[in-house]
Amino acid sequence: MGLSVEQCVNRLKRYHYALKRLHGILVARITAEPIYELKLAFSLHAYYCAEHVATMRQRVGEMREPPLGLEAVPDAALQRFFDEIQNGPTTELLLLGIYEKALPALHRALERHRQDSNPLTDSPTLRICRFAAMEIQEMIDFGTQAATCLINDFLRNQASEWLGLLDLLLKDAGELEGSGPRANLPRAEKYAKRAFPYVRTPKRDERFSDPYNMGVHAEMFLYDQQFSARDKTLMIFFKRLREVDVPEMMASIIQETKDKPWEYYREMTRQLWDEARHAIMGELGFVRLGIDWTKYVRPPFTWSLALNTQLEAKERHAVLYFIEQGLMPKTGKRYEWEIATESGDPFAALCQDYDWADEVLHARIGRDWYAKEFGTNREAIAYGDLAWSRVLIDWSRYQAEGLTEHENWWPDLYRKACQLWQVDPNPETLNYQHTYESTRADLKTLAE
Ligand SMILES: [Fe+2]
Ligand SMILES: [Fe+2]
Repeated sequence: MGLSVEQCVNRLKRYHYALKRLHGILVARITAEPIYELKLAFSLHAYYCAEHVATMRQRVGEMREPPLGLEAVPDAALQRFFDEIQNGPTTELLLLGIYEKALPALHRALERHRQDSNPLTDSPTLRICRFAAMEIQEMIDFGTQAATCLINDFLRNQASEWLGLLDLLLKDAGELEGSGPRANLPRAEKYAKRAFPYVRTPKRDERFSDPYNMGVHAEMFLYDQQFSARDKTLMIFFKRLREVDVPEMMASIIQETKDKPWEYYREMTRQLWDEARHAIMGELGFVRLGIDWTKYVRPPFTWSLALNTQLEAKERHAVLYFIEQGLMPKTGKRYEWEIATESGDPFAALCQDYDWADEVLHARIGRDWYAKEFGTNREAIAYGDLAWSRVLIDWSRYQAEGLTEHENWWPDLYRKACQLWQVDPNPETLNYQHTYESTRADLKTLAE
């Protein structure tokens, strides 16, 4: 026949819980995960989870009157299952927990729902489950490939006991959807014994070989009339790639801001993924030119590092809002799009077209979830300006402590690009050597 409304709602609440936990687990790892591709994948996957959480919530709301009880834990064994994965102490264990245990269990549960529910009476639920299953399969496929690259037999053997514990916890829960027989035996926790140690300091892999380097001032170059649009696309690609620091910073805001409506987490995670996408656009810009960016460009993490370690979550959001407000006027996203269009590189133009559109959305998200807490927009911006001026990105100390030489990587990049374009480098352009020592990215002069 099919599932009753009550049975259906009970199952939906379990999928909802699983997706919400996965969202939280992924967001909590973005900042300190060094491997670039995983940082980006976690950003996308957290966004997928956030969207499906929203649709599951909505569907429960269609079938039941408030209070919906969506914040309650539906099953103690499921909670322990996700606590173990959340606390997995290495990237490898996290990958195995998420992509080989949790997501496949969720996929099976959704398939089970399809089998158990009546396609006529429960059609709206089956529809959202079908869409969720598609993206869950996509995540599993990525995770399986990542595990093949990163996890050898030795690591897998070492993890086998813990993976067995995850299976048992799922059994205790009667599987993710709760329809199976329950084992419910006492289990010793492994990693869930301690509270989750959140790390807000960003980490990068070895391809980011000089993460304190602030030796090339991209904005000053972009706004300088004497340089050509074609040459400026190199700086635009660098700026986009450098944006990998935005998900690193935004993840810490989402992680440390509790008890907001789900719409807050959904929209903030959407923006987080957009910023990760912008980084990929920059990376791809270099790839399409035939330039190995890891050899020629030095994207720093100093912005996310400074914000995450010097400001509270609300202040970080304030800085983000302040900066994004500044991106809307003439010198901002329109200008970058015009330059990219003029450059003759259709990919640069395409990226900037979407980058601009994304930025309009982000300004709206900022207004709704940050600025509305202030009396006026002016106060919201002033608070962001103040917070940003308090952040110390200590150019000289990084150098004095030997963290970087602030090497000017621009001439080598430019020479390489000219070689690929089969043109002679312009001597003035080749000579560009402004750093971030005394001028911020928004061209504001730093106090002496
Ligand atoms: Fe962006
Ligand atoms: Fe943005």
